[in-house]
Amino acid sequence: MLSIIHNISLKPFHTFHTEVTAEHFTQFQSVDDSKELIHLPLFKNTSHLILGGGSNILFTGNVKGLVALNKISGITILAENEKFMQVEIGAGENWHDVVLWSIEKNLGGIENLSLIPGSAGAAPIQNIGAYGVELKEVFVSAEILLTETGEIKKISKEECQFGYRDSIFKRELKNKCIILKITLALTKNPVFRLEYTALADALKSVTTHDLSLKKISDTICHIRTSKLPNPEVTGNAGSFFKNPEISQEKYQQISNDFPSVVAYNSGKGKKLAAGWLIEQCGWKGYRKGDAGVHDRQALVLVNYGKATGAEIINLALEIKDSVRKKFGIELEMEVNVID
Ligand code: FAD
Ligand code: EPU
Repeated sequence: MLSIIHNISLKPFHTFHTEVTAEHFTQFQSVDDSKELIHLPLFKNTSHLILGGGSNILFTGNVKGLVALNKISGITILAENEKFMQVEIGAGENWHDVVLWSIEKNLGGIENLSLIPGSAGAAPIQNIGAYGVELKEVFVSAEILLTETGEIKKISKEECQFGYRDSIFKRELKNKCIILKITLALTKNPVFRLEYTALADALKSVTTHDLSLKKISDTICHIRTSKLPNPEVTGNAGSFFKNPEISQEKYQQISNDFPSVVAYNSGKGKKLAAGWLIEQCGWKGYRKGDAGVHDRQALVLVNYGKATGAEIINLALEIKDSVRKKFGIELEMEVNVID
C-alpha cells in the first residue's frame, strides 16, 4: 500500500533546491503502484504532480495537493537483431545511469545525452537534447497510464509529436498521464556524432582509433561540468529558456544590427543562442539576493541558497523584458513552472 507523508519539504527533490513543501507526498515503484495511486481519493480529489528528478521544475510556492515521485526501475532487453537492441526502461531510472549502462554494453545512440539530470520517464516530455542529438532519434515508444480513465497504453514515436524541447506530453497529454516505461532502440554499430562544434573542438586531437562511446561521453561530461553549475552546489534547472526559433527575415534584421549574433540553421529558419541574447543584455553573472544568472552560461538561472521561486520568476521576467526590448524576441521558458 502506498504510504502518504504530509507537509514534507521538497527541497531535496528538485534541483533548484528552493524551500517549498508538498501538502501530501508519496512514491510509487511499480505499474501496480501507479494504478493504486490514481484511485486514491487524494489523487482524484486534489491537484497532483508527478515528479521525476525535479531537474526541470520551478516551484513558485508550497504545493497544494499530492506530489507523487516516480521510482519505477528496471532495464529490460525486449528484442534484438544484428543492428539494434530494443531496451525498455522504467520511468524512475536515473537517465545518466541508463547512458552509462548503454556505454558499458557498447550500444550507441544516447552517449551525447550524457549527464543530463533527471529520470528516464521525463526524457520524452521535452525530447531531451544535447550536443547534436535528441531523444527522438532512438525513441520507439512509451507505456503510459491515462490518469482519468485508468487505461494503460503504448504511445509511438510518431504519436509523441516530438519537436525541439517539445512533445505531446507538454500539450494534449499535459497532466493527463503518467509515463511508466520508455522503449529505445540502441545501435550495435555506433556512429559517432561529432557535429556539435564544442564537442568536435574538444575531440580534435583524438584519433579515430581512440574514439569510443566512452570517450565521447567522458568528453561531454567534462564540457558540461566546466560550464554548467552542479545543482548539488548551486540550485538550477539547466537552460531556463528555450533557444528561440525565428524567420530568416527576422534573422537578417538582427544580424545587420548585431553581426556577432550566434545562430544555427533550423527547420523554421534560424535558432538563436538565447545565452548570447541574455549576455548581450548584460545579465551574465548578475545576482540579486540569492537569485542570479550563471557567470559561465547566461541561459542558466541559479539559486545561490535561499532564493524563492518567486524571486527566480521575477528575475526571469526581467530578462524576458530586456531581450524583448533589445532584440524584439520573445523568450519562452523551458522550465516547468508549478504554481
Ligand atoms: P522533472 O523535473 O521531475 O519533471 C519535469 C516535468 O515532467 C514536470 O512537469 C513533471 O510533472 C513531468 N513528469 C516527470 N516525470 C513524469 C512521468 N513519469 N510521467 C508524467 N509526467 C512526468 N535538458 C535537456 O534537454 N538537455 C540538457 O542538456 C539539459 N541539461 C541540464 C543540465 C542541468 C544542470 C539541469 C539541472 C537540467 C538540465 N536539463 C537538460 C533539463 C532536465 O534535466 C530534463 O528536462 C530532464 O528530462 C527532466 O527530468 P526530471 O525527471 O528531472 O523531470
Ligand atoms: N553563449 C553566449 N553566452 C552565454 C551562453 C552561450 O554567448 O552565456 C553562446 C556561445 O556562442 C555558445 C553558444 O551560445 O557557443 C551555445 O552555447 P551552449 O553550447 O552552452 O548551448 P546552449 O544553446 O546555450 C543548448 C541546450 C542545452 C544543451 C546544450 C548543448 C537549449 C535551451 N539548451 O544550450 O540544454 O546542453 O545546448 O547541446 O536548447 C537544457 O535544456 O536544460 C540544457 C542545458
